[in-house]
Amino acid sequence: MSYKSHSHAQWSSRMAFVLAAVGSSVGLGNIWKFPYMTGESGGGAFVLVYLICIFLVGLPMLMSEWLLGRLGQKNPISTMGDITRRLKRSRAWVLIGVAGILGAYLILSFYSVIGGWALAYIQMAVVDTFSGLDNDSVGTLFGNLLASPVELLLWHSLFMIMTIGVVVGGVAGGLERAAKTLMPALAVLLVLLVGYAATTGAFAEGAAYLFTPDFSKITRDGILAALGHAFFTLSLGMGIMMAYGSYLSDDVNIGRSALIVVVMDTVIALLAGLAIFPIVFANGLDAAAGPGLIFQTLPLAFGNMAGGWLFGLLFFVLLVFAAWTSAISLLEPLVEWIEERSPLSRVGSTIVAGLATWALGLATVLSFNIWGDFAPLGMFDKFAGMTLFDLLDYVTSKLLLPLTGLATVLFVGWFMGRDELRSQLNMSDGAFALWRVAVRFIAPIGVVIVFVSSL
Ligand code: TRP
Repeated sequence: MSYKSHSHAQWSSRMAFVLAAVGSSVGLGNIWKFPYMTGESGGGAFVLVYLICIFLVGLPMLMSEWLLGRLGQKNPISTMGDITRRLKRSRAWVLIGVAGILGAYLILSFYSVIGGWALAYIQMAVVDTFSGLDNDSVGTLFGNLLASPVELLLWHSLFMIMTIGVVVGGVAGGLERAAKTLMPALAVLLVLLVGYAATTGAFAEGAAYLFTPDFSKITRDGILAALGHAFFTLSLGMGIMMAYGSYLSDDVNIGRSALIVVVMDTVIALLAGLAIFPIVFANGLDAAAGPGLIFQTLPLAFGNMAGGWLFGLLFFVLLVFAAWTSAISLLEPLVEWIEERSPLSRVGSTIVAGLATWALGLATVLSFNIWGDFAPLGMFDKFAGMTLFDLLDYVTSKLLLPLTGLATVLFVGWFMGRDELRSQLNMSDGAFALWRVAVRFIAPIGVVIVFVSSL
């Protein structure tokens, strides 16, 4: 469903709501980004910090966004405007909504390019490109894709068209129904892949890599990355979950629903890690290969397992689907904002928002080839060697998401009354007290420490 401010529609059921939230949160973040960040940050210690961030910051923050949305019943900017007016708080809090729209736009611009990679891999699976691949050829395959701006552009365009199509048609409802079967299918397929990984001979090594923290390997920047990724993977900090909350009926238990979404999201990410790292180690691949990690490991598995052709095809189809449901949630805020502030219709707004996102996506497309050595902020040590894609990722995950997240928990924790919050959260006194400690102290202090120490 779409979350128009003037139609006070509500989710048809708690199930529909939870599915939509899972659809937004489970995506490339879980299957593409989590494994490669883990590999770049040295494994177990990163995973542990990530899990701590998810449960101590992400979960309370998800609940905060939902309850703000349910109180405001509007889009994030108007919601923050209404609530601040009613509570006589500074209008500056509205910046949370503004930063959210900007961030969602920046994220979608590169998200769509990676969604395009997954589309390209569907096509490769269809023509049976994976069979018999070895370490070298799997790298070449990926390298050739990245080296071709035209090809990347075509797949990126197709992914954007798919996303625009759903948002224009308002057929997100149909997509949600599909999500009901496809999300579980994705989980089952990941479990099967983990089963395959168990036969590679390096399963223990892969599992130990993920779950044995070696703190000598993690840097401050790695900790900030884990924090930022906790926001990214749960779709937090961009007002998206706030918008979803605005359609929430009063009887839905926010705490329990948030726990379901967080656990599902985490399980999918860990399964992806458990499927990928044994393959990495069994084949002597580089765990720190970066954004290409899943595209350079899984095809190797598909190419060498019985029925791998079908597995590969199914996997990339489901990956695209997961990315698609997330991409829709990223486009929606910008579309709404344009629609509210311009004479354009819903369709017109969607096309303008989509085109603007598509255009910025060119920066990411070119970052992997022609502009591969172009580091716009290279004069600063911190950004040395970072391409435009790296910068977009940095600005969103390491700046915008943590900062808007911080603002949200500060607002909910310190500028809203206890009774109002209590009435929104139908949970035991003990759980409520715990949530409040997290929102007032743990989350903000954690974000500030991590943020400041990495600068
Ligand atoms: N959570 C999605 C993923 O993991 C990406 C995403 C969708 C997102 N909506 C978002 C990230 C809002 C940040 C904010 O793939």
